[in-house]
Amino acid sequence: MSSPQNQAAWLKEAGKPLEVSDAPMPTAGAGEIVIKNAAVAINPLDWHMQDHGVFIQQWPAIFGCDVAGEVHEVGAGVDRFKAGDRVIGHTINLVSGRPQDGAYALYSVVPADKAAIIPSSISFTDGVVVPFALEAAVCGLSVKEPGPCMPGVQTPALSLPYPSLEPVQPIGKTLVVYGASASVGSMVTQIATAAGIKVIATAGARNLGFAKQCGASQVFDHKDPAVVEKIVAAIEPSEFVGVFDAVSIPETVNPSLEILAKFGGGHLALVHPPTTEMPDNVKVGMIFAVNDIATPVWKDYITPALESGKLQCLPPPTIVGKGLEHINEALRRSKEGVSATKLVVEL
Ligand SMILES: NC(=O)c1ccc[n+]([C@@H]2O[C@H](COP(=O)([O-])OP(=O)(O)OC[C@H]3O[C@@H](n4cnc5c(N)ncnc54)[C@H](OP(=O)(O)O)[C@@H]3O)[C@@H](O)[C@H]2O)c1
Repeated sequence: MSSPQNQAAWLKEAGKPLEVSDAPMPTAGAGEIVIKNAAVAINPLDWHMQDHGVFIQQWPAIFGCDVAGEVHEVGAGVDRFKAGDRVIGHTINLVSGRPQDGAYALYSVVPADKAAIIPSSISFTDGVVVPFALEAAVCGLSVKEPGPCMPGVQTPALSLPYPSLEPVQPIGKTLVVYGASASVGSMVTQIATAAGIKVIATAGARNLGFAKQCGASQVFDHKDPAVVEKIVAAIEPSEFVGVFDAVSIPETVNPSLEILAKFGGGHLALVHPPTTEMPDNVKVGMIFAVNDIATPVWKDYITPALESGKLQCLPPPTIVGKGLEHINEALRRSKEGVSATKLVVEL
């Protein structure tokens, strides 16, 4: 049997389309697996990397954060996986800089602690919407102490519990998720709900039902002029934890601060660096979605939660095409903006 050949969608220069060509065949180091990718997903981070070369440490680059496929090779010390397992994984080129750690290739390296087996009932194109958003959600909810995110920017530290596989009683905490139809916002909603946290959410008018499907107890249209008043009225003050702003632009940060002001402050978890002066009573931070805090969730939660339906592969994928050459088109569509969907390329 001939040995497999790898190919990748390479970024050779910032601001240029990715170019599909041969790539070295990756090998699994200790604690790693190599996945033969069947589907990859697009995140807004990716077109920022393409356009501006941000976070790229090694040129030419292979980036991308979400893969689903079959385990091709297992590294030393990995006992949770074997060749042929159907898995999803979070590729971490963002922190390692290594091209083999990027998703946009036929084969990618994934840390075994950032991968999970998916049930046979879940397709690769559905499963691939989960990894990066899930790790972002766990980082946003469960980090216990603020840590470095970017120069001068700390991570949030909401110190909330992990999701549970069992039916949970409410734990007496309420989190506002601003932007619960976004990929990260919907996953925060799912994971928080599965931890017994009450989520009050915003979404676009046509996505109110979607946010409820993710577990939000009440959802308000983010374009409603009375959205802040309605959210404030829905919250039991003694239970208020803060706001997870999954969009983090002035149109979402400003109402988030208005909500926090009504309760004398609280946590504000952002997905971008804060651009405005923060009141002293607001504990602000920007999430950084690669963190070992997510390891127990990868190891113990994802597979059984997918099996039981407790974790849903949401938002649903929009399949842009089949083959690495479709990634440029998918990046272009991501930059145009999506609503309650994740762009996916089949391989
Ligand atoms: N710091 C990190 O580690 C990290 C990790 C992951 C993502 N991010 C960043 O987080 C952001 C979201 O990423 P994503 O993949 O979750 O995004 P996404 O799914 O592409 O976001 C699309 C959603 O944003 C919502 N939205 C847009 N404008 C809004 C507004 N003014 N108010 C409320 N909702 C609004 C839309 O809601 P409707 O269609 O319902 O109106 C839409 O469903 C990106 O900027 C990304 O770069 C950061």
